[in-house]
Amino acid sequence: MALSEIKTLSLILALSLFSLKAGSSPLGARRNLLGGNEAVFDVTTLGAKGDGKFDNTQAMIKAWNAACKAPGPAPRTLLFPTGNFMCGEVVFQGPCNGPMTIEIQGTITGSTDLSLYTQGVWITVEDITGVFVTGGGTLDGKGDEVWQFAPKNGGGDDLLPVSIQFSKVTHGSINNIKILNSKGFHSKVTWSTDVTVSNLNIVAPGDSPNTDGLHISSSSNVNVTNILVGTGDDCISIGEGNTNVLVSNVTCGPGHGISIGSLGKRPNEKNVKGIKVVNCTLTNTTNGARIKTYHDSPKLSAMGIVYEDIVMNQVTNPIIIDQHYASKKNPTPSNVQISDVHFRNIRGTSNSPVAVTLNCSEAVPCQGVELADINLAPFKPGQTLSSTCFNAKPTITRIENIGLAGCGSK
Ligand SMILES: *[C@@H]1O[C@H](CO)[C@@H](O)[C@H](O)[C@H]1NC(C)=O
Ligand SMILES: *[C@@H]1O[C@H](CO)[C@@H](O)[C@H](O)[C@H]1NC(C)=O
Ligand SMILES: *[C@@H]1O[C@H](CO)[C@@H](O)[C@H](O)[C@H]1NC(C)=O
Ligand SMILES: *[C@@H]1O[C@H](CO)[C@@H](O)[C@H](O)[C@H]1NC(C)=O
Ligand SMILES: *[C@@H]1O[C@H](CO)[C@@H](O)[C@H](O)[C@H]1NC(C)=O
Repeated sequence: MALSEIKTLSLILALSLFSLKAGSSPLGARRNLLGGNEAVFDVTTLGAKGDGKFDNTQAMIKAWNAACKAPGPAPRTLLFPTGNFMCGEVVFQGPCNGPMTIEIQGTITGSTDLSLYTQGVWITVEDITGVFVTGGGTLDGKGDEVWQFAPKNGGGDDLLPVSIQFSKVTHGSINNIKILNSKGFHSKVTWSTDVTVSNLNIVAPGDSPNTDGLHISSSSNVNVTNILVGTGDDCISIGEGNTNVLVSNVTCGPGHGISIGSLGKRPNEKNVKGIKVVNCTLTNTTNGARIKTYHDSPKLSAMGIVYEDIVMNQVTNPIIIDQHYASKKNPTPSNVQISDVHFRNIRGTSNSPVAVTLNCSEAVPCQGVELADINLAPFKPGQTLSSTCFNAKPTITRIENIGLAGCGSK
């Protein structure tokens, strides 16, 4: 038996005793918030080195497996203390015997060797019921050293790696960490349910390629709140197959705004239903409240969408539905039926002369779009705002001076 296996085995034995003092090595136990004992697996006692140079990939996976597979249903924590833990692609694979906390106090730094990433994701958290990422530390993707290799023109399926992805998670959270300079998307939640994403600080330059702050797809019951995000792409993007997503208190900019979509790119996409975005502020973004769909898409629906209580500061397209996304010339219309969409109490300034753009599909015009209490002024003094509607007849309530007269029913 290798030394590491003996260590792991003795850890497991020690865990079942639950009698070690907090901070003792290699396995500690401490009181958790519920007053119970919690096993703490400190990665530095399990082979990881926080010197910024050592490749911790294997040590992290081993430490995870020790914690995840430790016997008994008690909660356990994988701890990254102060330090700089460099690693390549890591999969934190479940299922685990009990709920897992990944506590990042220090910094985890992504290797800049792109050949190490085989699945388009740096840190995957997969197939787990009960997993909580937190700790106040940082995930530094080091994208600044590799963005020059990003696919041009928006990229296809070969985008640079997502920094952290929840996949097939039931009941989990990503809370209180900073995600810095991701290579690709900063975070992603997919095929998951009952997930909270909160108190994140997501930072990348406004010209970094495809660096969405958070992308959500194929998930249900997801709450996103208290997020400070500025990147080179969408601050939050809500893709296909999502139901019941609540986004609140997001401060966004620079970036491309808070988007639903893009929808309808691939043949097997699923409907979107029940998305609410509320109490958000966007500053200096290219878009504000946006829904975007592809031409020539499969038949899909996107319904029950609310953007409410949103402040726009100097936003280029404050309110926009674009069903001609990614191709302005393709003659085959989008088949994504957009309906039951409400833009309410949206105020602030538009950086372009166009306040509202509803450019819906010729094949399936938008249904049930409401615009209410939209109070937008031009950012540039002396400008007059206008709006355009195409295949959409919104109901319009308490709105003046943004050229909506030609748009629909009063
Ligand atoms: C999201 O927030 C809503 C409203 O506050 C709440 O009812 C729901 O349980 C929350 N869901 C999650 C996954 O936290
Ligand atoms: C909104 O989020 C910010 C962090 O981005 C936080 O400081 C603030 O307290 C939150 N506001 C509310 C009302 O929760
Ligand atoms: C939005 O803000 C209002 C006023 O501060 C507050 O009452 C409401 O609970 C907030 N909504 C969400 C979903 O956070
Ligand atoms: C918006 O961006 C422009 C140029 O990128 C910059 O000059 C301006 O200061 C920014 N405004 C705000 C409010 O951040
Ligand atoms: C809608 O988009 C199409 C394709 O880009 C464009 O030709 C048309 O002018 C747009 N209509 C409006 C009203 O913006």
